[in-house]
Amino acid sequence: MEVVIVPDAAAGGELIAEAMAALLRRKPDALLGVATGSTPLPIYQALAARVRSGAVDASRARVCQLDEYVGLPAGHPESYRSVVLREVVEPLGLSAGSFMGPDGSADDVQGACEAYDAALSDAGGVDLQLLGIGTDGHIGFNEPCSSLASRTRIKTLTDQTRVDNARFFGGDIAQVPHHVITQGIGTILEARHLVLLATGEGKAEAVAQTVEGPVAAVVPASALQLHPHATVVVDEGAASKLK
Ligand code: F6R
Repeated sequence: MEVVIVPDAAAGGELIAEAMAALLRRKPDALLGVATGSTPLPIYQALAARVRSGAVDASRARVCQLDEYVGLPAGHPESYRSVVLREVVEPLGLSAGSFMGPDGSADDVQGACEAYDAALSDAGGVDLQLLGIGTDGHIGFNEPCSSLASRTRIKTLTDQTRVDNARFFGGDIAQVPHHVITQGIGTILEARHLVLLATGEGKAEAVAQTVEGPVAAVVPASALQLHPHATVVVDEGAASKLK
C-alpha cells in the first residue's frame, strides 16, 4: 500500500485526476469505478477540467457505481445513479450507455446484486476503483464486520453512517434509506488499482486504523492492505493520526 500525503483536498483531487487521465491515455475505454459522497468531488472536477482543456479524451471511458441506496427511485436526486450522472457522466461528456450500476429499485434485490457482479466481470473488471472512507472505516457501504470476502449484496447502514449522510437529505435522518446495495469487499479487491481519498480530521482515526492497524473486518478499509496495488491519498487532516 502506498500512502501519499497532500496539502489539501484540491491537491488530492488533482493528483488522482491525473492518475485517471494517465490511465485513459493508456487505455481509452478503461472501466472507472466511482464513489459518491463529498470526498471525490474535487477529483471529478479536476478530471472534467482536463477533458474540457483537451488534456485527455474520456469519450470512450466507462464508469461503474460502487453502491446504491435501496428503495429510492432511480430518478431521485440523491440516488447514486443520479449523483454519478450529475457529477461524473455529464461533466465528462459520457453517454448514459457508458455507465452501469446496481438496480436499487429491483423487486429481486439479491438477483440485482448477483447481476451486477456478473456485469462487472463481463465488462472485463474495474481498472481503477475510487474509494472514500466512512468515519467508521467503511468502504463502499461495507460497514464494520463485513466479510473481507464479501460479494455485492444488500447491507443495512449503521446509525452513524445515516447521521453522516443526512446532510444530503436536507439534514433529515428520516429520509436516509436504511438499506443499500454495495460492491462487497471481495468485489472491490478485484479492481486492478484501488485509490482511496480521505480528507479532513474527521477521517484521521479511520485512516490510521486502515493503514497502520491489523487487517480486520471491524475496519473494512484495512482490506486494502491485501491488495497488490492500493494507493491511499490523504490530506494533512486525515493524516494527523498516522504514526
Ligand atoms: C459512497 C461510498 C462511501 C463514502 C463514505 C465517505 O459511494 O462509497 O463509502 O465514500 O461514506 O463519504 P464522504 O466522502 O461523503 O465523507
